[in-house]
Amino acid sequence: MNLMVIGGGGREHAIIQKLKENPEVTTIWCLPGNGGIAADAECAPIGAEDIPAQVEFARSHDIDYVVVAPDNPLALGAVDALEEAGFPCFGPRKNAAIIEASKAFSKDLMKKYNIPTAAYEIFTDPKAAIAYIDAHEVPIVIKADGLALGKGVIIAMSHEEARQAVHEMMEESKFGDAGSTIVIEEFLEGPEVSVLSFTDGKTLIPMVSSMDHKRAKDNDEGLNTGGMGAIAPNPYYTEAIAEESMRTIFMPTLKAMEAEGRPFKGCLYFALMLTKNGPKVIEYNSRFGDPETQAVLPLLESDLLTIMKATTDGTLDQVEVKFSDKASCCVVVASDGYPLHYEKGNPITIREDVRANVTVAGAQLKNGVLVNTGGRVLGVTAVADTLEEAVAEAYRKVEGVGFANAYYRHDIGQRALQCGEE
Ligand code: AMP
Ligand code: GLY
Repeated sequence: MNLMVIGGGGREHAIIQKLKENPEVTTIWCLPGNGGIAADAECAPIGAEDIPAQVEFARSHDIDYVVVAPDNPLALGAVDALEEAGFPCFGPRKNAAIIEASKAFSKDLMKKYNIPTAAYEIFTDPKAAIAYIDAHEVPIVIKADGLALGKGVIIAMSHEEARQAVHEMMEESKFGDAGSTIVIEEFLEGPEVSVLSFTDGKTLIPMVSSMDHKRAKDNDEGLNTGGMGAIAPNPYYTEAIAEESMRTIFMPTLKAMEAEGRPFKGCLYFALMLTKNGPKVIEYNSRFGDPETQAVLPLLESDLLTIMKATTDGTLDQVEVKFSDKASCCVVVASDGYPLHYEKGNPITIREDVRANVTVAGAQLKNGVLVNTGGRVLGVTAVADTLEEAVAEAYRKVEGVGFANAYYRHDIGQRALQCGEE
């Protein structure tokens, strides 16, 4: 069987490593992939957003199944185009991917179907937005409507900061069109949980829970990034909270999308805040998280390809989705200065004994040498019986990778290890 995975980061590498476990898989193509993924898949230089070229590639390479991993191609309709050309896909169609692509859409969906989330208003006029800010307490949260690579969210600690965020998003177009509509919402407090789920539109099976670490520096300092590490499972997400989330958030969301004529299949990712008034949705993603996937998929004991195909065929209720009861930790190794300015082109070394634990995000092969080309460069994941051991093991294995100006957080998993002690 020939597979095609669209994307080229650490998440895609983790998905490919798992897909390879299925003995029926002959070739995995990754478009565009990266220099590290090239060790596990055939990479082809076609951009994740070049949908016509992807369809053409699938035709000429006898592709049996496609996984569309990143948010942009999903929002642009990659699944629609590939399915119309006869290629079954993992991932939502464009009309369902909007659950991530437009925060205004997802907030209105939650309001209409009584799904718990932060109170909010949507604005297209900066004057009205500023009047709203002046009438509300801080902290207050300002979000660009569209996709902004996880950077379009400002937690304003003062009214001045909130007004400045509105100005930058709406008047200076800091996030381009993504910020011409904004959402202003209530500040929520509590531990955050990422729950990725498999769904075929009718059945929804949550994966093991996880915790991302979004800030660049230790102790949650520094700028927001795509994610500097993840652990799974998330100890704050108890059985009781899981049951409540399924009842008040997950199934109502799936049914809401169905009722709106936007059935969702693929990976629906719930970013939750566990507030004292119960779990609330921070945002939805229409895809696997990065780096959560690098922590979650190594714990999956069932066959990933079988599950993915069942989400496409509408037979998810007939397959087994089993996770081990171990724990995992993924430490992201970035180029210092990320998410702003950082060096590129530094050679990367990966020791042979840690190779199987490494996913490669931003790197290319130059004359046969792997060099960094992105801010987030590598992920190092370890699985162990306890979270404490997984964290310790991940940090031991991080010593086996390196490049000039490599940087990683030293406290991935520490918040989770303190669960119950606060
Ligand atoms: P998002 O891109 O929506 O995931 O937001 C990025 C980060 O901002 C989240 O991981 C949260 O830590 C934080 N955040 C988003 N919305 C809120 C909110 N309403 N209250 C508090 N923090 C938030
Ligand atoms: N780790 C957060 C995300 O994938 O959006």
